[in-house]
Amino acid sequence: MIRIKTNEEVELIRESALLVSRTLAELASILKPGITTAQLDKRAEEFILSQEAVPSFKNYRGYPFATCISVNDAVVHGFPTSKELKEGDLVSIDVGVYKNGFHGDSAYTFGLSPVLEEHQLLMKVTRESLMLGIEKAVNGNRVGDISNAIQEYTERKYHFGVVRELVGHGLGKHLHEDPQVPNYGKKGAGPKLRENMVIAIEPMINLGTKDVIYDDDGWTVRTRDGKFSAHYEHTICVKKNKPEILSSFAEIVFQEKNNAALFSDY
Ligand code: MF3
Ligand code: CO
Repeated sequence: MIRIKTNEEVELIRESALLVSRTLAELASILKPGITTAQLDKRAEEFILSQEAVPSFKNYRGYPFATCISVNDAVVHGFPTSKELKEGDLVSIDVGVYKNGFHGDSAYTFGLSPVLEEHQLLMKVTRESLMLGIEKAVNGNRVGDISNAIQEYTERKYHFGVVRELVGHGLGKHLHEDPQVPNYGKKGAGPKLRENMVIAIEPMINLGTKDVIYDDDGWTVRTRDGKFSAHYEHTICVKKNKPEILSSFAEIVFQEKNNAALFSDY
């Protein structure tokens, strides 16, 4: 069942989503070769707790960390580890927070300079596909219109792999609510979008094959061919003419551009 939010609920989700964005911006400011993803996770958790919020992912279905940090061939749900990041790494960071009874969810992929040109393209196209999907999130369209826009752009135009196993989702009182929002599908198919539905749109795009494998930790999803993957996610609210993005990349991009260790072409 898809729950339509009240305007008041949308504002609370926005507050959580913007806190996620601030957390990602905080991490963008300290990312550099030599730092470990466990250190990033610790910083994120401390920051979230200091804002009278809790990390949505921690203990969700037994997930043991505040963030998912997926490096290089890791697609999503990467465990933070004590391994040091290095030049050329693609670091996808996914954060959720729960505050005032509502969740926000957003993700961003950072590149540690210098980044291979093919990886720069992967990041750019994934980000653009997210924006193309978001454009379709208006009253009267269907979920399949979002899915199709992402798939057409990444798969048909660039021949990248669209991950099938994991999808975007509704959110609000729960981290995962109906509807599911796949990154592949047919125009005009799926549930109808109505004003004040809140969904997370999150393309996971692989440079090579769409196929993935799971690590022994039971969580970390990796590309089957070992090629790199990118992941960007926004929490958005369906509106009449123009979708509303409740999370924001503005502060993240500001930090990304200010941090010489990070590649940025946003
Ligand atoms: N953004 C991801 C999702 O919506 C993150 C979930 S991680 C989990 O599925 F650990 F909470 F599962
Ligand atoms: Co999500």
